[in-house]
Amino acid sequence: EQSLRVLADRAGVRIGTAVDTTALAADAPYRETIEREFSSVTPENVMKWQLVEPQQGVYDWAAADRLVDFARANGQTVRGHTLVWHSQNPDWLTEDAFTPAQLRALLRKHVIDQVTHFKGRIWHWDVANEIFNDDGTWRDTIWLRNLGKGYVADAFRWARQADPQAKLFLNDYNNEGVNAKSDAYYRLVRELKAQRVPVDGYGIQGHLAVQYGVPGDTLANLRRFEALGLQTAFTEVDVRMPLPADPIKVQAQAQGFTALLQACLLARRCVSYTLWGFTDRYSWVPDVFDGEGSATPLDADLVPKPAWFAMRDTL
Ligand code: XIL
Repeated sequence: EQSLRVLADRAGVRIGTAVDTTALAADAPYRETIEREFSSVTPENVMKWQLVEPQQGVYDWAAADRLVDFARANGQTVRGHTLVWHSQNPDWLTEDAFTPAQLRALLRKHVIDQVTHFKGRIWHWDVANEIFNDDGTWRDTIWLRNLGKGYVADAFRWARQADPQAKLFLNDYNNEGVNAKSDAYYRLVRELKAQRVPVDGYGIQGHLAVQYGVPGDTLANLRRFEALGLQTAFTEVDVRMPLPADPIKVQAQAQGFTALLQACLLARRCVSYTLWGFTDRYSWVPDVFDGEGSATPLDADLVPKPAWFAMRDTL
């Protein structure tokens, strides 16, 4: 039996997973599955600002460095996640403590220091994460309030300056198909390109739920971003369901995973398809979505569900 990564190699895409670095150290079957089945990894948490700079001026890169070393040893690429976000920022980073000018200097230092630390070792950076609301308006964040919309262009420029090799991505959820949110990204990318801002990629997280169905025009959406010169990637795919699972939901889940994978394979510049965890043993879903779960293709005992076989068949 071929692994997902062997099949993905033949198809010319990277197949990835988010990695829980605590589990990576403690759980051998979990670690061996990552080595065998995946050709790209994303730190689920350990590159987020809150974790890399828990106290102002005190960096802790240890956990992220271990994952990057693991990836190198296994011939895997690393998707760096994430540089600018409204969530999981350090507790010390507040609007009360700093002026807008100071916040801009802090953001600049964060982006440059982090990208410099990992220079040459990161394939993609999710530079700006979740900057729009679902209706296409700008998300109200500490960055928008204090720096204005230009913070996004600034972050991409700083990242490029610090590591010219890394491909620089926008990333969001509910942006699979053509809708108000992806329209906002499309307009933004056109503006950024016109201003020579170094944006290289459009990231689709792909957090689906069986009760909301599978977005229909994902391929058309990928194509329009590719026509602007971008690479595309699925960055955080999972397909959750209201518990308990039943055969209908399990089948719908398989269709969700394969619909996004198929769109990636049919697109011209979709370079990777990353799962937000591959086993229910460690999935974030039950902690965040009340009454939902079973969102990954392997159950808590690492036993494959129909979604796993369906992805293999699609590849
Ligand atoms: C989630 C992690 O999976 C959780 O462990 C953490 O508690 C919260 O963040 N979109 C993103 C990811 O870009 O960083 C989020 O990851 C899931 C949603």
